[in-house]
Amino acid sequence: MILRAFLAGVVILLVLEGLIFFSVVRNGLIDPRADNGYLPLEKWASRAVFVAIRRDSANLQSPIQPSDDNLTAGIKIYGAKCAICHGASDANASDIAKGLYIQAPQLAKDGVEDDPVGETYYKVKHGMRLTPMPAFGGSLSDDQVWQVAEFLKTMDKLPPGPQAEWKKIPSQANPANASPPVGAPPSTPTPNPSSSTT
Ligand code: HEC
Repeated sequence: MILRAFLAGVVILLVLEGLIFFSVVRNGLIDPRADNGYLPLEKWASRAVFVAIRRDSANLQSPIQPSDDNLTAGIKIYGAKCAICHGASDANASDIAKGLYIQAPQLAKDGVEDDPVGETYYKVKHGMRLTPMPAFGGSLSDDQVWQVAEFLKTMDKLPPGPQAEWKKIPSQANPANASPPVGAPPSTPTPNPSSSTT
């Protein structure tokens, strides 16, 4: 008798949950804005992502040395692919980084030097589910991903050569360094052919 009541309770709960879920999806009962922080479920799910990455990357060993050449190669990759979200050595966020609702850490300030290098490799190669962090396994070779991971591991104690290379990456907060600001006139005005004819 008790068992039957219990089973009936379970079935009713499942049906209710299904109905609630259906109604949430069907009626769009969600805050759709990307500028309004995490939803509670997203917060828990993103914790789970970090825990799973730590577990799954625990045995990864870097096959390369943090030599000047490898660090410099990693810095160049970072400048081309990562700085737009994770910033240059001034740690000032770009407009793109500011617009992400799951913030991209500005790595010069909030770096990952304390994480195992294999964990950083794993995040860069596979990306991070439920975050804007893309997977680069399809566009970078394994060695390139290790190079960028070794750079991030060593970022706060780079030898002089790589350090100079790191400083060369333009600030992402000031797009004038990289490309003209939107709406700005071109830096060298194009001559107007009609004005030169008399
Ligand atoms: C489109 C923006 C974007 C690009 C491009 C990007 N990332 Fe990320 N990345 C993020 C965001 C957002 C997070 C934060 C995820 C979180 O905390 O849930 C992140 C997280 C990370 C983390 C983990 C930080 C931590 O505290 O654990 C590392 C390491 C990282 N990115 C490295 C890179 C590297 C290296 C590249 C380039 C090869 C790159 N990212 C390109 C957005 C980006």
